[in-house]
Amino acid sequence: MAGTDQLEQLREEALAALGALADAQALEAWRVRYLGMKGAVKSALKQLKDLPPDQKPAFGMLANRVKQDLAAAFEARKGDLVGAQGRRAQAVDMSLPALPLRLGHRHIITRTIEEITEIFARMGFTVAHGPEVEDEWHLFEALNMPLAHPARDPLDSFFITPSVILRTETSTVQIRVMESQQPPVRVVCPGRAYRPDTLDATHSFMFHQVEGLYVDEGVSMADLKTCVNQFCGAYFSPDVPTRFRPHFFPFTEPSAEVDIGCHLCAGSNPTCPVCKGTGWIELGGCGMVDPNVLDAVGYDSEKYTGWAFGLGIERMLMQKCNIPDIRLLFENDVRFLRQF
Ligand code: FA5
Repeated sequence: MAGTDQLEQLREEALAALGALADAQALEAWRVRYLGMKGAVKSALKQLKDLPPDQKPAFGMLANRVKQDLAAAFEARKGDLVGAQGRRAQAVDMSLPALPLRLGHRHIITRTIEEITEIFARMGFTVAHGPEVEDEWHLFEALNMPLAHPARDPLDSFFITPSVILRTETSTVQIRVMESQQPPVRVVCPGRAYRPDTLDATHSFMFHQVEGLYVDEGVSMADLKTCVNQFCGAYFSPDVPTRFRPHFFPFTEPSAEVDIGCHLCAGSNPTCPVCKGTGWIELGGCGMVDPNVLDAVGYDSEKYTGWAFGLGIERMLMQKCNIPDIRLLFENDVRFLRQF
């Protein structure tokens, strides 16, 4: 058994020497010494022929295992030493230019909301927020839509339960603001709204609106038109044309829709993709707050009058930045978002 003891000793010695190596050069010398053609493993094997026949199989098997163990340990150590040297080489190359840092930024809709509220702040409006999940009172009843009103059709809103609904418009925040303070009120309320609308280039099931509300003594439709015109001049351009088209909303009387002139064709192109040849683009609705709404929140509708508007934020942004499809704003494709 002297031969096998010698092999075990050889393995231990070789592994200890391998662990103490400092660089790739020493590693190569180790390989030649132990695993080379004239190395220690080969010369140990030469003893095989001189052993008694009954010891030969055990010695041969052990010799092969030692050779395999040392070869595997060599490969592992090579990975350590060469990898570490490579990393050291990279770490010291101070001449390489720094990788450019890619900074993120806020979404264009968030920045548009800030821009819009900032314009209204200059006209004396504060900002109010309300919940996106609403009850029937704030979404329907207080907004002059009693139980049988067609706008309460279950197909027109996302109902969570029969009395809990995702808000379909930011007009709900008007009610919450008036419930919490006495006139004068001058607020804008930006936020999300949800409708089961079919997705297309100008419609989404989730979109943003900015609501405006002004209530005081002697407030008139002339104030509303001036304020909306001032806003459109500041947000789009000072010479943008606007028009107020008669319309119907349950919570305002009289009511109107606000349009701005088409920036693309100004009505000269019958096949214009933006205004479809009309020359006008709808931004939202507005009107004088219905006395029923003022009564619902406990205001004296004989003393106070007010107006409100609700404008679509995506539509304004799309108009201003020539964005052809609303879906681009929600797909989170950074190649698109980085442009803004
Ligand atoms: C309203 O939502 C009223 N609450 C506006 C209002 C407020 C009137 C206060 C009077 C007083 P309307 O349903 O028209 O109105 O929506 C207003 C704007 O929201 C639209 O002009 C459009 O710009 C935007 N909008 C409506 N539905 C969608 C949709 N599915 N996707 C994207 N934008 C939409």
